[in-house]
Amino acid sequence: MADVLVLGGTGRTGRGVADALARDGLQVVLVGRDGNRLREAAGGHGHRTLVAAGVREVADTVRAVRPAVVVNTVGPFTATAGPVVDACLAAGSDYVDLANDLAAVSRLLARHAEAERAGRTLVTGAGFGVAATEGVVVRLCRDGARTGRRAERVRVDMVPSLALQAGRLGDALAGTLVEGLPGVPGGRRFQGRRFAGGRLVAAPVGGAPRALVTPDGDRVVTASMPLGELLAAHRASGAPFVEAASSEVPTGALARIALPPAANLLAVGPLRRFAARRLAAVEFRARSAPRVSSWGHAHVRWQDGTSAEGWSRLPEAQAATVAVCAETTRRLARGEGRPGARTPVASFGPELITSVGGEFVDGPSRPDARVDVGGGRGRR
Ligand SMILES: NC(=O)c1ccc[n+]([C@@H]2O[C@H](COP(=O)([O-])OP(=O)(O)OC[C@H]3O[C@@H](n4cnc5c(N)ncnc54)[C@H](OP(=O)(O)O)[C@@H]3O)[C@@H](O)[C@H]2O)c1
Repeated sequence: MADVLVLGGTGRTGRGVADALARDGLQVVLVGRDGNRLREAAGGHGHRTLVAAGVREVADTVRAVRPAVVVNTVGPFTATAGPVVDACLAAGSDYVDLANDLAAVSRLLARHAEAERAGRTLVTGAGFGVAATEGVVVRLCRDGARTGRRAERVRVDMVPSLALQAGRLGDALAGTLVEGLPGVPGGRRFQGRRFAGGRLVAAPVGGAPRALVTPDGDRVVTASMPLGELLAAHRASGAPFVEAASSEVPTGALARIALPPAANLLAVGPLRRFAARRLAAVEFRARSAPRVSSWGHAHVRWQDGTSAEGWSRLPEAQAATVAVCAETTRRLARGEGRPGARTPVASFGPELITSVGGEFVDGPSRPDARVDVGGGRGRR
C-alpha cells in the first residue's frame, strides 16, 4: 500500500516532495496525466507511477489506493482541491496542498467541521509564504498573550528569495495566478483584500508599499497582495485589522497606476483565458536566488498601543516550499495530524519552521527599515 500519493508528480514541487519523502523510507506514488513524463520524474528514486488524466480520475485513484496522505500540487486549487478532498474524506486519507490564493485557502479551511467529523486532517497553504509569516505571528502573539496583550493590527510580509530553473512557467502556476478570487467576500473578484474591523474588505493589489531591511541588511519593498498569508495571519492573531504584502509585487509608480486596471481586465473571461495561456508559455531563463535567505516578517500592534516585530529566515523559496510540504506530509503520515482543516503552523506550531532548518529572528527591524514609501500610512 502507498503511504503518499503525490498529485502533479512531474512538477517542480511534486518531484521535490516525493524525493524527500522517499529518502525517509515512505512509499510514494507519483500521479500525473502523462506516463512518459511520470516515468522520467520517477527516475532512479523508485517511486511507483499512476496515470490519471483529469481531476475525476485522480479522485477515483485516491478512492482506490486509499493512501495515508494525498499531496496535491496541481493548481488552480479552486478547481482541483474540492473533488480530491471529497475522495480523501471518503478514503480515510489526510490531505496537503500548496494553495496560496485566498479563494482556495478559504474554501479548504471552510471544510474544518466536515474533516473533524471524518477524523481526517486537511492542511492547505503548505508552502513558503503562509508558513513563514504565520510562524512569526504565532510566536509574537504567544509572547503578547503572556503579558495580557491582544493584537489590534497585523501586517505580514513575505520576502521569497527564488531561484529560477530554465523552462516554462506552466499551466498550474499560470492558472493559480490568473484565476483570481472567486467567491471571496469583501470586494470584487480581481481586487485585493485586507481585514478591517474583523471583515474582509477590498484593498488595491500593490497598495500600501513599505520598505523593509531584512536582518541580513537586504533592502526590499513589499506591497499588498491577497494571498493565503492574510487569512493565516488573521486566524493566528485574532486582530481586527490585518494586511498581507509580498516583495514579489511590482511597486514602482507605473505599476501602482497600472495594476488595479490590469487586474480588472482579468474579470473578462476570454481575456483571462488568453492571459493564462500566455503566462503558462512564458519561458524563464535560469536565475540564481537574489538573496541568501527568504524571509517572513510580521509587525503586530497591540491594543495598548505598543508593538512587536519579528522575522523567520528560510532557505531559497522553492526549497523552503518543498521542505514545508514534505515535513507536513511526513507528520501526517506518522499519524500526528489533528482532525480538521488548518494551515501548516496552525497544525504543527511554529516549530514546523525550525524543523525544516528555518530560524526566528526576534526584535524590531533595523531603524532605517521603517520607511513608508507611500500609500500605507493612515489606512490601517
Ligand atoms: N504555496 C506556495 O508557497 C507555493 C509554492 C510553489 C508553488 N505553488 C503552487 O503549486 C502549484 C505547483 O507549482 P509547481 O511550481 O510545482 O508547478 P509545475 O512545476 O508547473 O508542476 C505542476 C504539476 O501539475 C501538473 N498539471 C498542471 N496542469 C494540470 C492539469 N490540468 N491536469 C493534471 N495535471 C496538471 C503538471 O503535470 P504535467 O507534467 O502533465 O504538465 C505538473 O506535474 C502551482 O499551482 C503553484 O501556484 C505554491
